[in-house]
Amino acid sequence: MQCIDRIHPLRERLSAWRSEGQSIALVPTMGNLHAGHLALVKKAQQVAQRTVVTIFVNPTQFVQGEDFAAYPRTFEYDRLALEKIGADILFHPAVGEMYPDGMEQQTRVIVDGLDDIFCGNFRRGHFTGVATIVTKLFNIVQPDVALFGEKDYQQLLVIRRLARDLNLPVAIASLATVREGDGLALSSRNHYLNASERGTAPLLYKALVHIAEEIKKGSLDYALLERNAAADLTRAGFRPEYISIRNADDLGEPERDGKLVVLAAAWLGQARLIDNILVGR
Ligand code: PAJ
Repeated sequence: MQCIDRIHPLRERLSAWRSEGQSIALVPTMGNLHAGHLALVKKAQQVAQRTVVTIFVNPTQFVQGEDFAAYPRTFEYDRLALEKIGADILFHPAVGEMYPDGMEQQTRVIVDGLDDIFCGNFRRGHFTGVATIVTKLFNIVQPDVALFGEKDYQQLLVIRRLARDLNLPVAIASLATVREGDGLALSSRNHYLNASERGTAPLLYKALVHIAEEIKKGSLDYALLERNAAADLTRAGFRPEYISIRNADDLGEPERDGKLVVLAAAWLGQARLIDNILVGR
């Protein structure tokens, strides 16, 4: 595996592969890799001949007061894990390489309509930071396919939308959420949980599963299901931001026949946990 931290040599390496007709998959990450990230890399290896993994803790997607400085950085561990799994390139640029003129003057990608609801409502500007860095990575790597986790469901929809709206020649593939045995979605932010919170944390996924089961049984009072779940989580010690049943394609108001997603974000101690479940697949 080649480790590259500058754009120019990365482009040179990639254009050599491209001229040989090799297909390229991209897996963007912020590092602190866990089995969810590695599942994306494995899928990338199945769908393309070459796999590029990026590790970049992107400052523009952290809003004021968030954990940019504290975000877990475990580069050596990550590098070894990627080496072992057989990724072809690890791209890990410094902030100055990605934002050479600073972050204030940077052209931004705004995904209207999807970026100010749910997580975007509680983290104003977050999805503009995500959409901007992902667009930059797409343009730098020019992958045939890019892979994202369903764990960050709203992010996945934001990226699908930006690729479509901007006519980017990249296929977006997604992967189901990888979970601990007790249902907790793997996340770098799970490190912020203390032992007792870690015991409570799986209740978030359980609440989503419960709502999905009620919907499948025919329950139609979605507002009641949402309210009850939020109350249950609050009683268990969470501070829920939202728990909501939506149309899975665009997060619009749920339609009777369409595919649904139940999305939730809740604080538990110092950790902001998000999760979701698709209903009716
Ligand atoms: P990060 O949180 O590091 O996640 C990188 C990728 O791994 C994302 O596509 C995310 O959805 C996926 N992922 C995280 N946890 C997962 C799990 N438990 N199961 C399956 N996939 C999982 O998401 C980001 O970084 C950033 O916003 C990024 C897209 C890299 C832009 O900076």
